Amino acid sequence: MLRIAVLGFGRIGRMHASNIAAHPQAALAGVFDAHEAAADEVAERLGVRKFPSVAAVFASSEVDAVLIATSTPTHADLVEQAVAAGKPVLCEKPIDLSFARVEACAQKIAGAATPVMLGFVRRFDAGHRAVRDAVHAGAIGDLHQVVITSRDPGMAPTAYIEASGGIFRDMTIHDFDMARFVLGEEPTEVTAVGSRLVDPELMARYEDWDTVSVVLKAPSGRQCIINNSRRAVFGYDQRVEAFGSAGMAISENRRPHMMTIHGATATGSGAPLLNFFIDRYAEAFAAEIGAFVDAIEKGWPAEVGFEDGRRALLLAEAAIRAVAEGRTVRTSEIG
Ligand SMILES: NC(=O)c1ccc[n+]([C@@H]2O[C@H](COP(=O)([O-])OP(=O)(O)OC[C@H]3O[C@@H](n4cnc5c(N)ncnc54)[C@H](O)[C@@H]3O)[C@@H](O)[C@H]2O)c1
Repeated sequence: MLRIAVLGFGRIGRMHASNIAAHPQAALAGVFDAHEAAADEVAERLGVRKFPSVAAVFASSEVDAVLIATSTPTHADLVEQAVAAGKPVLCEKPIDLSFARVEACAQKIAGAATPVMLGFVRRFDAGHRAVRDAVHAGAIGDLHQVVITSRDPGMAPTAYIEASGGIFRDMTIHDFDMARFVLGEEPTEVTAVGSRLVDPELMARYEDWDTVSVVLKAPSGRQCIINNSRRAVFGYDQRVEAFGSAGMAISENRRPHMMTIHGATATGSGAPLLNFFIDRYAEAFAAEIGAFVDAIEKGWPAEVGFEDGRRALLLAEAAIRAVAEGRTVRTSEIG
């Protein structure tokens, strides 16, 4: 049994904690949350052990590994502490909102044998992964374009937007990772545009964008087109498409059921899309925990590592500069 402690018992930490508890080869060693009295209350109600501090988690001989689900600005410090303590770590995305801080963290943990896995959960979605596998197996011939559509069901609360670091670091970061995953090579040119169409006043206040499009170009000439919106009225719109010389592979949206209505004037699905990430990626979050456990138990390298987190943030920084300067930015210009 791998005993995993969860740091940060908020929205996503609670979900990870129950996935750990449900995994046959893992056990929830306990949780720690710095601030929230509500988190304490939930831990008590669920009968989950509460640690008194981060230090107590890292010092405990009853903790084999940690999952970091705290607020983003704490991630880099906690990754460094976990590696120093020799505890394998699964860290939620992003590593940090500052690329310089991520680089400093990379230097600090360089050479350590402790596995560090990044929470890019969409790699564990069966449909998205099947697109990647089809591309790599040559099922669509030579890959030409990847098209990623990722739209949230509704605008996040103001406090979330304020602390998010902007749409490219907060939301598109998942798509930058998916682009690298499907392309199988590192994009080197980034072109991007941003608009304020959903909530112009809120976006202007935080110098953010609610509607963005990005084009990534890899050295081979292969392209990835990403489109994001903070609001899709029909639900969480999550699709990945790979187009090639011999065909196309598509990972479609998910619905709660597959029933379709066939009438005289139209046919189609009556079911709405699954609402948001906790529902849409429920199986993927469970598979992510499985991959973490396997990596530690079998001594495999983490499937999604620190370098993937650094690379995704690098693409976010390039996109931010591309919008600000209205030009294509080469990734070699960043960092
Ligand atoms: N992979 C995904 O799809 C996905 C989705 C949502 C959130 N996230 C990431 O997960 C992280 C948490 O997001 P959330 O929505 O659960 O936030 P949240 O605010 O609901 O929870 C964060 C918790 O961390 C606690 N915390 C803050 N600093 C701490 C510290 N130093 N030590 C211990 N606890 C601390 C807070 O009290 C809070 O309970 C963020 O980094 C976010 O980017 C990832």
